[in-house]
Amino acid sequence: MQNKKLYGFGAIFDTPDEIVKAAKEVQKEGYKKYDVHSPYPIHGMPKVMNLPPSKLGYVALIFGLTGAITALLVTFWISAIDYPLIIGGKPFFSFPAYIPVIFEVTVLSASIATVVTMLFIIFKFPNNSHPLNDTEYMKKVSSDKYGIVIQCDDGMFDNLAVVKLFEKLNAREILPIYYDEKELNHNQKILEPKFLIFLLFVAAITSGLTYFTLNKLLYMPPFDWMMEQSKLNPQQTSKVFNDLYGMRTPVEGTVARGHMPFMFKNKPEDAGKFLVNPLSISKSVLELGQKKYDIYCSPCHGYYGEGDSRLRGQFPNPPSLHSEKLRTWSDGRIYYVITEGQNIMPSYSSQLTSDERWAIVHFIRVLQRSLNAKETDLQ
Ligand code: HEC
Repeated sequence: MQNKKLYGFGAIFDTPDEIVKAAKEVQKEGYKKYDVHSPYPIHGMPKVMNLPPSKLGYVALIFGLTGAITALLVTFWISAIDYPLIIGGKPFFSFPAYIPVIFEVTVLSASIATVVTMLFIIFKFPNNSHPLNDTEYMKKVSSDKYGIVIQCDDGMFDNLAVVKLFEKLNAREILPIYYDEKELNHNQKILEPKFLIFLLFVAAITSGLTYFTLNKLLYMPPFDWMMEQSKLNPQQTSKVFNDLYGMRTPVEGTVARGHMPFMFKNKPEDAGKFLVNPLSISKSVLELGQKKYDIYCSPCHGYYGEGDSRLRGQFPNPPSLHSEKLRTWSDGRIYYVITEGQNIMPSYSSQLTSDERWAIVHFIRVLQRSLNAKETDLQ
């Protein structure tokens, strides 16, 4: 104990009430350099000890505001200057949409800055030694006792007076606390060669294992599960054919089942002559035709095909579908107009399957018959 120095005197108490009273007395005596330790926070203690509010709040405020302003500027710069995109008809800088991002960045910067400041500036990390560490006193107050320490560098410190005060307070135990100056100021460095080598070692092991797991292990049985199958994935080489391509283009002229190619591009008359409606009339076909007609054709042609567009002059009104010409056109000729469009009317081949187009033709016939019924319809 010769080369150890006195840090102060500690007094141990059994109950929280006693420690609050003790702190009150010590404060009243006028000691400045003292501290209280307890296994859990004690209500009212900061007030008894007359502690000023923590300065960490200012750190949180400064970094929170910095985060908020940074996030505001970044969202503004990205969405209004660097890459302006109209989204849902909103203005380029649509503030409400960025509130969540700004909020998150504010909280993130404030909390990270608070923790870093606390660790590195207030606790002076990586130097983690304190005279109280590893003392009998600390062992007690961190499990079930309450303690108060008066430091000997307090201007008023006097061995006898302090011990007397503690005795007056009925302290359970009074402990002198010594510390080793060398141990306290050993100035631990973060960038020690040993530590750096350790970091390199960890980095090498981690990346090596990650590489091995993702690139080797997962391809070994049984970890490959169902990855290895005797099948050919798109873009893979195959030795079956001379050109080594796994993907084959179909033989020229191949027609996919149910997808008859349209062979009458720019030949409306031939379409009218050679195309026959493949659908026979039934309730479901007519219902399909009506549904698709109402969706795709009625905005311009009107629900009854009279050319009474709902587009209020934004698109030229089409002619009536009840004209003499249209009534005498064959199904294939009408199908041609839907498939290829006509003058300013666009093609609907990408929106409607060929069956849907034929169903619409049937439905147009229904509309036409409704205004020009044949005598047989009336019998
Ligand atoms: C965007 C508006 C618009 C839509 C939607 C539209 N059409 Fe047309 N349609 C027109 C216009 C305009 C014409 C006249 C084109 C012209 O000048 O030859 C026309 C012409 C036609 C003709 C030929 C009429 C004639 O007398 O020459 C038929 C048949 C026809 N449309 C059927 C349809 C069908 C069936 C649909 C639904 C799949 C449809 N149209 C959807 C605007 C439209």
